[in-house]
Order: sequence, then structure tokens, then C-alpha cells
Amino acid sequence: MDRQYWERIAPNYNEEIFDVLQNDKSGKIIHAIETAASKDKTVMDIGCAIGKWIPLLATAFKYVVATDISAINLDIAKERCKDYPNVDYQRMDMSAYSLTVTPCDVAVCINAILTDNLKKRINFFQSLDLCLNKGGSLILVVPSLESKLYANIIANRWNVDEENKEKIASEEKAYALAKNIKQGVTDIDNVPTKHYLKEELELLLKLEGFTVDCVEKINYTWKTEFHNPPKWLDEPYPWDWMCVAQKD
Ligand SMILES: C[S@@+](CC[C@H](N)C(=O)[O-])C[C@H]1O[C@@H](n2cnc3c(N)ncnc32)[C@H](O)[C@@H]1O
Repeated sequence: MDRQYWERIAPNYNEEIFDVLQNDKSGKIIHAIETAASKDKTVMDIGCAIGKWIPLLATAFKYVVATDISAINLDIAKERCKDYPNVDYQRMDMSAYSLTVTPCDVAVCINAILTDNLKKRINFFQSLDLCLNKGGSLILVVPSLESKLYANIIANRWNVDEENKEKIASEEKAYALAKNIKQGVTDIDNVPTKHYLKEELELLLKLEGFTVDCVEKINYTWKTEFHNPPKWLDEPYPWDWMCVAQKD
């Protein structure tokens, strides 16, 4: 999941990538953003992609810095959000070893720290700190490992989506899958993707100098996990983790 991957996805972004804004029917992420927002504050949208969150951010904040590793994504975002004059678009690799960035009062980072590469994740988490002023708020959404394992266990126990089950192509792939899952890396559409435990997320942020206010589930429907979810399958629904934290 490097820059090339995201540049390749960009033209078909809507078809390829899960839309958190559309699928968070609870409105918890919007609520967290609105709680942190003010017309006196600046906000950074880290990994903004094609700019789905920009209209909300540009309306609620004085100024938005929309950043992404993909230049194509940023061009699309700029075109989609041209009605919002208070947005600056900056190509930025949060996994780079050194980063020059003007910090903001609030940072929103929604399903952007997905790379299976540990070094890149370490750098990404360190960069979060650079993006915020002291006392600034971070709203971070990441895939949940607990949710992914729960869905896998249900799929296996009740043969859900058996007809769509992908065969493991080779011994190498089986070895990689086994090695990855120990690190919380598991495939989404055949792409190794980092998933996080709640305690892991809290620890990672604490070690980067954040105080965690809350970690909450952002629930989605079972249709987001299975083509044919069993009729009896209800709560708990699959979820991402949303964490709200303050930079010390
Ligand atoms: C799944 S998309 C999420 C987009 C958006 N936050 C949303 O919720 O609609 C992940 C985005 O993170 C960006 N990204 C991935 N790694 C990055 C990095 N190292 N630095 C900056 N952006 C990155 C990708 O280019 C992609 O646009």
C-alpha cells in the first residue's frame, strides 16, 4: 500500500474504497468533528483522498489543510470541492522520515493508516504529532482487528458467503497470511491491511504524546462484511475504531 497503489486506485476511488462518511449511520464521527470545530480553528484532513470530508470541514472550520500521498486524489478533491475557498491542498507522505508541516488545531485522519509496513506505520504515527498544535485534538478512525476476527469466526462457523470464498492461491500466500495476522494485518479485497486492537491503538497514541479521551465503535451493517449475511445476525455489528485524543 504505497504511493503507487493509491495513485492507481484514485480514478476509480468511489468503486474501490469503502465510504466511511456514508456508512457511519450513527453520525458519531460527524459529532466528534463538530464538537472539536470552531470558526477560529484550523483543521488538517490527513489522507483526505478525493475529499469526501472537506465540505463538512470547510464549513465548520476557519481553514482546512487537505493532505494526501496521492497527487491524483488531491486533484480530484480540488475539483470536487472548488466551491470551498478556505481549503489548501498539499501532497504529503505521512510515512516519510522527515516532514515539514505547519501544525493545525485539529487533525482528522480517517482510515488512512492502513499500510502493512511497520516502519511506515511508526513514521505515520510520529507524524501525527507534527500535524497538531499543543493541546490540539485528533480524531482518528482505523479498522478494528476485533471486528475482523469476529466476522471471520462467524463466516467460518456458519459457512457465510461460502460460494464467494477465495481459495488461498499458494503456499507462499498461506505463509504470508499466517505471519501477517500475528501483526494485525489481514486482507481486505486481497490487499494486506493493518487492523488495530483497541488497547494497541490507545498505547500507540499514548507513546506519541497523546491523551486519549475516548475510543468508540463506528458500526456498519453486516452487508459491509458479507454478501449474504444470515437473517439472524444482528448486534454487535461490524465496526471501525474511532479515537478522540488531545496532544499533550
Ligand atoms: C481509505 S482512504 C480514506 C480517505 C478519506 N479519509 C475518507 O475517509 O474518505 C486512505 C487515504 O489515505 C491516503 N494515504 C495512505 N498513506 C498515506 C500516507 N503515508 N500519507 C498521506 N496519505 C496517505 C491514501 O492516498 C488514501 O487517499
